[in-house]
Amino acid sequence: PTIHIITPTYSRPVQKAELTRLANTFLHVPNLHWILVEDSQRRTTLVTRLLRETGLNYTHLNVETPRNYKLRGDTRDPRIPRGTMQRNLALRWLRETFNANSSQAGIVYFADDDNTYSLELFEEMRSTRKVSVWPVAFVGGLRYESPKVNAAGKVYGWKTVFDPHRPFAIDMAGFAINLRLILFKPQAYFKLRGVKGGYQESSLLRELVTLNDLEPKAANCTKILVWHTRTEKPVLVNEGKKGFTDPNVEI
Ligand code: UGA
Ligand code: MN
Repeated sequence: PTIHIITPTYSRPVQKAELTRLANTFLHVPNLHWILVEDSQRRTTLVTRLLRETGLNYTHLNVETPRNYKLRGDTRDPRIPRGTMQRNLALRWLRETFNANSSQAGIVYFADDDNTYSLELFEEMRSTRKVSVWPVAFVGGLRYESPKVNAAGKVYGWKTVFDPHRPFAIDMAGFAINLRLILFKPQAYFKLRGVKGGYQESSLLRELVTLNDLEPKAANCTKILVWHTRTEKPVLVNEGKKGFTDPNVEI
């Protein structure tokens, strides 16, 4: 199967560094299709060029998160989940591109631009029949959060401290979905409104599967193959108001 990787991304000083790191990972993964969705009014030249130069198989989309979802300035309402409209656009693109009866075998994975992904993770997710799950490091105030797996290899709950009673107490980086399921449930999207913190993943997954359907990967969820790393914001105080360095140099 082709692995369709959905990545929301937005313009900021570290964007090119993040996307370069991701591309370098993806170049090692066979049969990968990268759906990169910019949170912007139009597709930027920075991202357009970067994608072209990677040599990866990709689709470049954009949708801007509306202003009313942002607070004054460029800080956004913290109740509005980040990257949601972008992921939903990619889901729509998949449904418009592949028809429900198509024999196109595929896996869908949501990969944020700042996380760290092992190559083994992609091999694990390739055999996903409905939805596969695994632990994610550095989330929920823990070294890692994980699905709870019983001796029979069934997921029966969530080893998290933050709200373990969520239907799917799992980070965006902790699951993959078979493309067939996305196509057969065309109404399933991430909810934009009325979603409490930590419930975004559940808002999509509950439309697709039940706990009983989940397929644990990564040695029955005992191995860490993805890390929810976050990049420190660079301190650019010496640029001053007018900017010190050449603004025509792309970083
Ligand atoms: C956590 C989760 O890991 C995310 O999957 C989830 O979307 C997010 O919380 C949330 O629910 O708000 P976190 O590290 O806090 O992630 O979020 P970011 O990595 O900053 O953003 C997630 C993705 O959305 C990234 O790929 C980022 O580039 C993108 N994003 C962020 C946008 O497209 N627009 C924005 O304004 C901000
Ligand atoms: Mn992140």
